Amino acid sequence: MNYLEFTKKIAKEAGEIVMSYQKKTLKIEEKSRPGDLVTEADKKVEAFLIQKIKKTFPFHEFLGEETGSSKDKVRGGEKNEFRWIIDPIDGTKNFIRGIPFFAVSIGLEYRGKRIVGVVYNPAQKDLFAAEKGKGASQNNKKIHVSKAKTVQESLFATGFHPAYKHTKLEIFKEIINNSQGIRRFGSAALDLCYVANGTFDGFWEFGLYPWDIAAAILIVEEAGGRVTNTDGTPLKYEQKTILATNKKIHPETLQMIKKAARA
Ligand code: IPD
Ligand code: CA
Ligand code: CA
Repeated sequence: MNYLEFTKKIAKEAGEIVMSYQKKTLKIEEKSRPGDLVTEADKKVEAFLIQKIKKTFPFHEFLGEETGSSKDKVRGGEKNEFRWIIDPIDGTKNFIRGIPFFAVSIGLEYRGKRIVGVVYNPAQKDLFAAEKGKGASQNNKKIHVSKAKTVQESLFATGFHPAYKHTKLEIFKEIINNSQGIRRFGSAALDLCYVANGTFDGFWEFGLYPWDIAAAILIVEEAGGRVTNTDGTPLKYEQKTILATNKKIHPETLQMIKKAARA
């Protein structure tokens, strides 16, 4: 089984389900935190993906935004080494309001290492994909990060998690004063893919979850970019802060973040 092709296929099928809900009146609920919204489409799509994967790979594990972590499955006395990380709709608020910037995000890990990442924006039929060691693509064409050498010639994207108390507006100020500008589009997965294809030169955010970024981190890295924590340390497993760039502007951006965080 080719994991990449399988993942692309189910991401597109999931995208069709997402789009079918745009024509209906959506049932929207608030999760545990006010302002954290989930729709019936999020739940339906995650259930669809898990069921599809289980049918082909009955012993693989899952981490999904809406259903959480699967129990460790034991096969022949051993924990399964494959894990699928799913965000059924990244950019739910855009989806609810009909802003065509949301995506199905599916990452696959083997022994804790990312091996496949697929992010699909069904409203624009835009499919980003990567396989470890084999490069990244957008709609089956190879993509590469930008060539910007300085922050001054760079355009950034960011996001603000509403519940994350430590979001530093000083960083926003520092970057906006020293770059071409900042965009806040509302889907961390797609923001990262836009770093991968060179539309943005950098992206940072505090307060993310593994399902927001698992697939897109591999896409950025395979497109030649660099992804670290916002203090420059390697990303840890359940990372909540992230800086992704075209690699060239990484040290300068880290310096600015460091300076602003001290302010
Ligand atoms: C959100 C989006 C948003 C980011 C938030 C995420 P969701 O994911 O990625 O861009 O700023 O931190 O929670 O809730 O739409 O899946
Ligand atoms: Ca998300
Ligand atoms: Ca989501």
